[in-house]
Amino acid sequence: MNDVILRLDAVEKHFGATPAVHGVTLEIARGEFFALLGPSGCGKTTLLRLVAGFEQPDAGRVVLDGTDVAGVPANERPVNTVFQHYALFPHLTVADNVAFGLRYKSEIRNQKSDIDEMLRLVRLEGLGDRKPDQLSGGQKQRVALARALILHPKVLLLDEPLAALDVKLRKEMQVELKALQRRVGITFIFVTHDQEEALTLADRVAVMNLGKVEQVGTTEAIFERPWTKFVADFMGAVNFFDGFVVRPEKMRLHAAATAGAVEGKVESKVYQGETTRWLVRAADGKLLTVVEQNDGVPDAVSRLKPGDRVWVTWERRHEVPMK
Ligand SMILES: Nc1ncnc2c1ncn2[C@@H]1O[C@H](COP(=O)(O)OP(=O)(O)OP(=O)(O)O)[C@@H](O)[C@H]1O
Ligand SMILES: [Mg+2]
Repeated sequence: MNDVILRLDAVEKHFGATPAVHGVTLEIARGEFFALLGPSGCGKTTLLRLVAGFEQPDAGRVVLDGTDVAGVPANERPVNTVFQHYALFPHLTVADNVAFGLRYKSEIRNQKSDIDEMLRLVRLEGLGDRKPDQLSGGQKQRVALARALILHPKVLLLDEPLAALDVKLRKEMQVELKALQRRVGITFIFVTHDQEEALTLADRVAVMNLGKVEQVGTTEAIFERPWTKFVADFMGAVNFFDGFVVRPEKMRLHAAATAGAVEGKVESKVYQGETTRWLVRAADGKLLTVVEQNDGVPDAVSRLKPGDRVWVTWERRHEVPMK
């Protein structure tokens, strides 16, 4: 990879006996939108804190833009962090909250125009005189983003910054955040335990499990070609066979006997609008999950009900080998 902005080299961090981060090696390119994805406790926040300088590694190296930052204090690293609870100062105006980061930097030039520029960037122009409690959740999150971006960090670290928002606002903010990252061109490292959020936002994803990176790749590679059972399972590919896995949306249902099909019985069906999610009990007892697009509804398959015989097929090319 050329133009690496962040390199992690065999990074270790233990808390007592717990390896929070275990042998993590990663390269992130300048300008990338990178997601750290994994279940609760897998070490995502600890990894961000090691990059930010809030924690020191027990072993390994953190190299930011070509410089080993061991011993460089957090406030001197060219990174900034946005947290889940945006921690705005309630008694300060929006503009003063955004300016807050600048106070700790020696070169304070053009404060006013920098702040206006930032407020425009996060679509808060005209709201600079408000207090945080006069803002919506999404607007507060944008103030937190502006406060972090005004220092022009080389890398912006975001630790589940949208988790406090309701689903609709969260989806809107995802679209905005992606557009914002494209506009500013700063490397974003975004922590989430939500696979859909990672897929929506990121160029590349690292899936973490028990302090280790299980797989790094483009969103499509992580989703379509998982290397391990853990990654496959985390990405919702639930049909495991000996040596391979098949995603539910790659399987087809038939209401009549079909050559090469697995025969079974409908155990349940859940209508989900665009799709229907079926559970099929195969003759050998295995439970298969099939997701069908509802583009042909009503048809013979859509009329099937629990207890009915059904036939399941898939193409060999959709069998993903597992380690
Ligand atoms: N300061 C600490 N002292 C002791 N153990 C810690 C500390 N910080 C984290 N841990 C442990 O390290 C592991 C990784 O924690 P971390 O906060 O990095 O997980 P996470 O992936 O961010 O989880 P979540 O999605 O819940 O935020 C967990 O087992 C956690 O209990
Ligand atoms: Mg965390």
